[in-house]
Amino acid sequence: MPRYQRHIFVCINEREPGHPKGCCLEKGSAEVRDKIKDELKKRGLAPIVRANNAGCLDACEFGVTLVIYPEGIWYGGVKKEDVEEIIDRTIVNGEVVQRLLIPNARYAPDSLQYTKVQE
Ligand code: FES
Repeated sequence: MPRYQRHIFVCINEREPGHPKGCCLEKGSAEVRDKIKDELKKRGLAPIVRANNAGCLDACEFGVTLVIYPEGIWYGGVKKEDVEEIIDRTIVNGEVVQRLLIPNARYAPDSLQYTKVQE
């Protein structure tokens, strides 16, 4: 079994104020990442699901952006308040939270077949 079954990469890229692309950090990505780490620990999932800081994921206009591998699920506009639902539905139950999918075909999930985390 691999060391981690899933990785959640959260963009924490920062740009200077006023940059036309903006950045995920100014939209609260550090708080999203911290909440993900807390919720994984609370549920005993930290040994098998890893939350990682990421640089720019090239989806700046949709930030806060995160991507979950191996499925390749791209979520955008993520807020701290969305984290429990992402963990419960996507990580634990293998469901996609449709309203958080980035509305662009370029970020469409690789597959709609998801599997539950094996403990
Ligand atoms: S700044 Fe977050 S995706 Fe580019």
